[in-house]
Amino acid sequence: EHGLHAPRYPWPHDGIFSSYDHAAIRRGHQVYTQVCAACHSMYQIHYRDLVGVAFTEEEVKSMAAEIEFTDGPNDEGEQYERPGRLSDPLPRPYPNEEAARYANGGAYPPDLSLITKARHDGQNYVFSLLLGYREPPAGVSVREGLYYNPYFPGGAIAMPKMLVDEGTEYDDGTVATEAQQAKDVTTYLAWAAEPEHDDRKLMGVKFIFVLAIVWITAAYYKRWKWAPIK
Ligand code: HEM
Repeated sequence: EHGLHAPRYPWPHDGIFSSYDHAAIRRGHQVYTQVCAACHSMYQIHYRDLVGVAFTEEEVKSMAAEIEFTDGPNDEGEQYERPGRLSDPLPRPYPNEEAARYANGGAYPPDLSLITKARHDGQNYVFSLLLGYREPPAGVSVREGLYYNPYFPGGAIAMPKMLVDEGTEYDDGTVATEAQQAKDVTTYLAWAAEPEHDDRKLMGVKFIFVLAIVWITAAYYKRWKWAPIK
């Protein structure tokens, strides 16, 4: 069964010449780490990916250094703990899928690195899903451990409602309403699934600019060349 189809929202980065709202990516990363990362990994994203996108290198280095990573083997063949660095992936909440399912009543919180690509109309879907929790309508009953959400296929999801007002502490003074957090974390997830997006569009703009110059030169040259013949 399909879920309720999400409405289309006017994401600022959707325009053909538009880049991401990088302040939103930064806030969205804060929502992810403070709320979602308790259950969802984003193992394709490394700390270095955030540098110059949403944080400075210094900020990211100190963020990574707060996390203990298991590395090894060392010269004695043992694993050891060390502070994180730029080359580390964002930490995973569970060592493997079995542990993740065990902690979530059998359901698996998927890795969110590519979620906006993995689901149909991903960013509108994720945004709607996060804000889509309701009381089930009369006559609909939802099994223990599941929550009614019309946007989720089947209408009952194992993830409880996660966003509440003030659920995230933003460092830029933005008021963390539920909808603000949903918008910011969705922007962050959309960026994560397509980190080359801004470069690609900028390249397109440069390409069109160079093409225009070439075209104007060629047109002028042609008229000049044919002028005595006509
Ligand atoms: C599933 C996002 C926080 C547990 C999902 C899905 C998304 C998502 C997009 C996939 C739905 C689908 O398969 O189509 C988020 C975001 C979070 C967040 C953006 C933070 C704002 C959490 C937390 C937990 C959790 C903190 C654990 C307490 C789960 C579980 C599923 C799930 C168990 C699987 C649901 C099912 O298959 O029925 N989440 N999540 N999520 N999430 Fe989260």
